[in-house]
Amino acid sequence: MTKHILILPGDGIGPEIVAEAVKILTYLRDTAGLAITMEEAPVGGAAIDATGVPLPDATLDLALQADAVLLGAVGGPKWEPLPIAIRPEKGLLGLRDQLELFANLRPAILYPQLAAASSLKPELVAGLDILIVRELTGGIYFGQPRGVTTGEDGTRTGVNTLVYSESEIRRICETAFDIARQRNRRVCSVDKANILECTELWRTVATEVGTEYPDVTLSHMYVDNAAMQLIREPKQFDVMVTTNMFGDILSDAAAMLTGSIGMLPSASLDATGKGMYEPIHGSAPNIAGQDIANPLATILSVAMMLRYSLGEPTAAERIEHAVSTVLDQGLRTADIMSPGMRRGGTAEMGDAVVVAMDSQV
Ligand code: IPM
Ligand code: MG
Repeated sequence: MTKHILILPGDGIGPEIVAEAVKILTYLRDTAGLAITMEEAPVGGAAIDATGVPLPDATLDLALQADAVLLGAVGGPKWEPLPIAIRPEKGLLGLRDQLELFANLRPAILYPQLAAASSLKPELVAGLDILIVRELTGGIYFGQPRGVTTGEDGTRTGVNTLVYSESEIRRICETAFDIARQRNRRVCSVDKANILECTELWRTVATEVGTEYPDVTLSHMYVDNAAMQLIREPKQFDVMVTTNMFGDILSDAAAMLTGSIGMLPSASLDATGKGMYEPIHGSAPNIAGQDIANPLATILSVAMMLRYSLGEPTAAERIEHAVSTVLDQGLRTADIMSPGMRRGGTAEMGDAVVVAMDSQV
């Protein structure tokens, strides 16, 4: 059955990196019989410019109908003066919310070829393979009340609310435990249970879910310590499960261990496995349009899409293998450049991955 993929390039480097990912999908469609259709729509700043809102109804409808969504990145200085409620980022949060994509999988895997690009010593990161499971549709990102109010004396007060129901915690913990069963069977739940009641409940529910998975080892860590441990001894972790905001922060830190945030893909899944796939990095407006952005995180996001939403694990492996081949060949974008390697642009990197896939057959 033909699968429908919605392509949302977004802003900044989004359109450039997504174009490279589309090359990979097109190649698979034309040469490997992958039955897909692709359709493009605006989101984020591009949608604000075109329609006045960051998530037009037409884009949301297409996303709801699609089997999977590929997103580049949203945001940029041009739209920063706008109120938070209508900024490009709201387009992304609206998609996560409306599609009920509560489970965000963010793998941090070190490609051995890039050990020198890591901010840590090679021995600390060699073989690194962590999966951060971030709750994506709740917590302080969505909690009410929120906003800035002005009192009678003219003083302003800002408020955001950290809120999690038991069922929200339970389902994300179950996702983490299920995935841990396919990995090294260790889950570290990250909270701030010593100070925030909401995450004290998180710890309690994580512990309850843990009793249903006696074959998986559960540990708990406060988020400040987890941030430190990620930099001190990252290989102690297998699966980390945490709240929306803690996951946002820890996944950027974990990304840097692998050499570049430009390498890391992500999957955001609903309860049925439908998903939105995007690199974890942002729109990098400072380097947009210069053909220097690294498209590999987006290309690897396509691999995750094939694996999690399209039921095509072999095609996913072909992409991952081709990325590894290209790194072996010494081609590097600026963010992962090291002495002795050959520097290439965004499009050259995408083309090289296609060539590497083509030579597999
Ligand atoms: C991410 C990003 C987003 C987030 C922004 C762009 C809203 O940082 O996907 O990690 O905070 O979730
Ligand atoms: Mg982030």
